[in-house]
Amino acid sequence: MAELVIAGGRRLEGEHTVQGAKNSALPVLAATVAARGRCVIRRCPNLSDINATLDILRHLGCGVTRAGDVVSVDAGALSGCLVPEGLMREMRSSIVFLGPLLSALGCAELGSPGGCEIGLRPIDLHLEAMRALGVRIENEGGRLRCQTAPGGLRGARFALSFPSVGATENMMIAAATAKGVTVLTNAAREPEIVDLANFLIACGAKIHGAGEGVIVIEGVERLHGAEHTVIPDRITAATFLCAVVMCGGELLLHGVAPGHMDAMLSVLEQAGARVRRIGKNGLQLRMSGRPRYLPMIRTMPYPGFPTDAQALFMAVSAIADGTSLITETIFENRFRHVGQLQKMGADIRAQGNVAIVNGVPQLQGAAVNACDLRAGAALVIAGLAAQGETRVREIWHIDRGCERFEEDLRALGAKIERTEPERLF
Ligand code: UD1
Repeated sequence: MAELVIAGGRRLEGEHTVQGAKNSALPVLAATVAARGRCVIRRCPNLSDINATLDILRHLGCGVTRAGDVVSVDAGALSGCLVPEGLMREMRSSIVFLGPLLSALGCAELGSPGGCEIGLRPIDLHLEAMRALGVRIENEGGRLRCQTAPGGLRGARFALSFPSVGATENMMIAAATAKGVTVLTNAAREPEIVDLANFLIACGAKIHGAGEGVIVIEGVERLHGAEHTVIPDRITAATFLCAVVMCGGELLLHGVAPGHMDAMLSVLEQAGARVRRIGKNGLQLRMSGRPRYLPMIRTMPYPGFPTDAQALFMAVSAIADGTSLITETIFENRFRHVGQLQKMGADIRAQGNVAIVNGVPQLQGAAVNACDLRAGAALVIAGLAAQGETRVREIWHIDRGCERFEEDLRALGAKIERTEPERLF
């Protein structure tokens, strides 16, 4: 199995162009199923999760081509509403095909995605939202058979009990072609929701209020094809920023959306980083010396501090001067990196969903496991700052979400190698 081998302790300096957001590209690609006509999606990162999504699209009968980061999907020949078990398991977010299939064909059949590394991840909110639109759902031994009421999807008023990102996405896509108006309350407000809404609007949907707590969707007869460029990935952008905060140095980020990163940038500034926004899409970060302890972090739905960045910031706090307090409120099993960071000499006490991190002056290289995607990225940046050699195993987790990770870190001066050639997606 491939590993990342890191020789730590080098200052980082240079420029980095941020990839397209995985968490935007996935629902946008799934939503192409609901459009009649060719969709061209730009800035799709080259990742195993994106590839799994393209496999599902092909399996459903869509014509899919890819040239670099441009993916073209034609759902004109959509022939089936079944997402196979294997593909469903490969990527939990394949649940976001539910809304598009119901919109396009009036039926969807998928395996229940089950838990994953970071928690149970139930799909009850997705199913309740679809039921509100008149969908009948039967669970046959773990397989979900979903069918719209005669006459198709019907607009409805629906309140989410928690602002789930995926459930909001499924609801927006399905309601876009439902009969009548849908009012979704307590909707997720993540930038990825706004991006998906913008794509759907480009396809002819009538969606108001995306990015706010109440989204109003006026159903239209049909959606047509459209072109769309995916927003920048705020979490991989934060990964590079955190790496420089830990190692010291200077970074110029291009193609970033600083406005999506306020909660994270504020913490980095309080830790001692000098951050300068350059125009709408540039960001410069300078760091010298040891980071100060982090202000209290509590993961929250957007615009709060993102759960996807929690592990990265825990890595920073592990070498910060002073004690940091980190609380995870979104997922119930998202501290698996704690044990791995401890192997590197971090002083962390975790109980339940709270971690108390007493920063140590220096981490030591160790062999660690990338227990999930973001935890894996956090261990890599910890390795970059540590003394000696760090070997990160199970890096397929990292390949799910970080494009050209080690190449781009090397360009900043990091010493990091993969023991086997990168899998070609
Ligand atoms: C998305 C992101 C993921 C991020 C998360 C929270 C994608 C592909 N993934 O995941 O990277 O960490 O948002 O920002 O975009 N929940 C339920 N029932 C449901 C759905 C969710 O109880 O039906 C719970 C989850 O278990 C979790 C919380 O709601 O505790 C948030 O989940 P949700 O916002 O749905 O996250 P995802 O869309 O799965």
